[in-house]
Amino acid sequence: SFTDRMFLLLCFTTLVSPCFSTLVKNNGPVIGLMAQDVRSQEANEISYIAASYVKTLESAGARVLPIMIDHTEEEYKEIFNMINGFFLPGGAANIFDSGYATAAKIFYDLAIEANKKGDYFPIWGTCLGFEQLAVITARKNVLVRTNTTAVSLPLDFTTEANGSKLFRDFSPEMMSALATEPMTINAHKWSVSMETYHENEDLNKFYKVLSTNTDGRIEFISTFEAYDYPIYGVQWHPEKNPYEWTRDFYVHTPNSIKMTFYFADFFVNEARKSKHTYENEKMIRDLLIYRYHPNYTGETTSVFEQKYYFYGRDQDKITDPVKVTDPDIIGSVFEVNAGAVHVLAHVNVVVLITAVLLCL
Ligand SMILES: *[C@@H]1O[C@H](CO)[C@@H](O)[C@H](O)[C@H]1NC(C)=O
Ligand SMILES: *[C@@H]1O[C@H](CO)[C@@H](O)[C@H](O)[C@H]1NC(C)=O
Ligand SMILES: *[C@@H]1O[C@H](CO)[C@@H](O)[C@H](O)[C@H]1NC(C)=O
Repeated sequence: SFTDRMFLLLCFTTLVSPCFSTLVKNNGPVIGLMAQDVRSQEANEISYIAASYVKTLESAGARVLPIMIDHTEEEYKEIFNMINGFFLPGGAANIFDSGYATAAKIFYDLAIEANKKGDYFPIWGTCLGFEQLAVITARKNVLVRTNTTAVSLPLDFTTEANGSKLFRDFSPEMMSALATEPMTINAHKWSVSMETYHENEDLNKFYKVLSTNTDGRIEFISTFEAYDYPIYGVQWHPEKNPYEWTRDFYVHTPNSIKMTFYFADFFVNEARKSKHTYENEKMIRDLLIYRYHPNYTGETTSVFEQKYYFYGRDQDKITDPVKVTDPDIIGSVFEVNAGAVHVLAHVNVVVLITAVLLCL
């Protein structure tokens, strides 16, 4: 009867819709990349971002929105709703008292709250960013000194690495290269030791350890992921292999360059699952990294080839003020995405009808 058919249709809609909604990915992910406080000023700059992080994220298809250290909590909330992931880079900012630390805590709390409500929002921490995540989760200093300031190492995978969210899609060849070739660049004075991890419930209930390393004395966490949230951290530097050349322990082997892309691809794909968006293309363009020019720092004592400097809200020296006059570029990415949603909605109906016909 008609009612039976309608009932079946309803069942199918319920069964099939979730499959299709997960297929609709955001192919224009925007990742918020945290700037950090400079330690000593050269020319009135208050913060910087190393260009290697920008290039790494861009290589896997994300656009980068630099997040300044001097914004209000309200402004960070607005940014949170526009971006699809939050990235805490390495560096030397104070993780207990700095603009970097304050913003990190705000974005971390927003992400936890959002993910609890079913809103997918990933966070990544590299080196200092990894330490910052550990300290926020543990709510106290959990770092110990290690002799790891200039060494490249293979990862010692834990048994939990296999099947982890982070490494699930890595090829067996890449896993084997990571486990045997000394390609992960360590440039940190501080670490989270496995001893601390085992003792600290805030840490061991929250993070699953995927790899460790040792300085010969202390075994420390080199890669972790959160059990219940899309939060990931590496104590080492996936972004340096292809883009940084100023230290002789940086590794540039073909496998190490592929490795960088595996990590970038993983995190950008996480960001593609986020449905946060912005009002229009002009609005996001005003905020993206493309407006800024990096400075060449490779011939100073810096460990970075290029850095983007930021000058604080009153004196931001935007190198290329945007004048969006071409209506074609406004809203382009999301029109494309809206198109994809339409097509899938259409496919959904076709599949439903086919399924119902086959069924009756
Ligand atoms: C620190 O580690 C390096 C190798 O990474 C080693 O050459 C050096 O002797 C170590 N220093 C100490 C004090 O253990
Ligand atoms: C992960 O799985 C592969 C094959 O499935 C195996 O060769 C490897 O030893 C495993 N690694 C760990 C750390 O358990
Ligand atoms: C960055 O480069 C610009 C342009 O050359 C220069 O004016 C500025 O002082 C540089 N900033 C720093 C911090 O070196």
